[in-house]
Amino acid sequence: MARRRQIYEGKAKVLFEGPEPGTLVQYFKDDATAFNNKKRGTITGKGVLNNRISEYLMLRLGEIGVPTHFVRRLNMREQLVREVEIIPLEVVVRNVAAGSLAQRFGLSEGTPLPRCIVEWYFKSDALNDPMVSEEHITAFGWATTQDLDEMMSLALRINDFLCGLFLGVGIRLVDFKIEFGRLYNGDDMQIVLADEISPDSCRLWDIRTGDKMDKDRFRRDLGGVEEAYQEVARRLGILPEGGPRDLKGPALMQ
Ligand code: C5P
Repeated sequence: MARRRQIYEGKAKVLFEGPEPGTLVQYFKDDATAFNNKKRGTITGKGVLNNRISEYLMLRLGEIGVPTHFVRRLNMREQLVREVEIIPLEVVVRNVAAGSLAQRFGLSEGTPLPRCIVEWYFKSDALNDPMVSEEHITAFGWATTQDLDEMMSLALRINDFLCGLFLGVGIRLVDFKIEFGRLYNGDDMQIVLADEISPDSCRLWDIRTGDKMDKDRFRRDLGGVEEAYQEVARRLGILPEGGPRDLKGPALMQ
């Protein structure tokens, strides 16, 4: 890890220069933060599981034609990705009222929404990721109206597909956050799904019991955080090298 040039360190991931031009190595940490860094902790094995879960979801999305930055997984905690210019927006898609939406509109968590809702937030820790409108986005030049159309249509396709995928393993996809990047190829520019999709960035509820299987267990001190992430991986059929034993074993510490 130390031999490579570090490009960026985020709260849950580190980006290193990749082996070929135009690539980066995305390293998944066990560090967890919430409420814009005010709450910090470690979820043992989270990095290993999120690397696997994000790989799995990006590959499935790639198969249905959603362009992503993912190239291949390198090892337990690292994946090779294409270097993209990140669009400074967090795109949140919601199917069920929860979290900040439930709070803002006084809805009880779990209220189904009349249709899925897409929201835009400006990526800025200093400003607490404020919610923004399409007007702000185009006026400040963070994205064009064409970019917004493309992100909206990709976000809805991703939501439809992931809702079905999770439903198949007994999980309700309540909401999630995604990020997009610009991939340049000569004069061409393509918007691709970037960052990660994992229980850190999704709300996932057990269909039968309603139990939370995501980062809300950490945010709200519900306990059983590691177990919840492991259960998501298990249901998706993703097991670390060595099989089911390793889900609890030392491999997650690496
Ligand atoms: O907190 P809020 O209800 O707005 O979060 C909506 C969804 O976006 C949740 O699934 C949450 O995990 C995700 N999110 C995220 N990173 C943020 C803010 C929200 O992954 N900075």
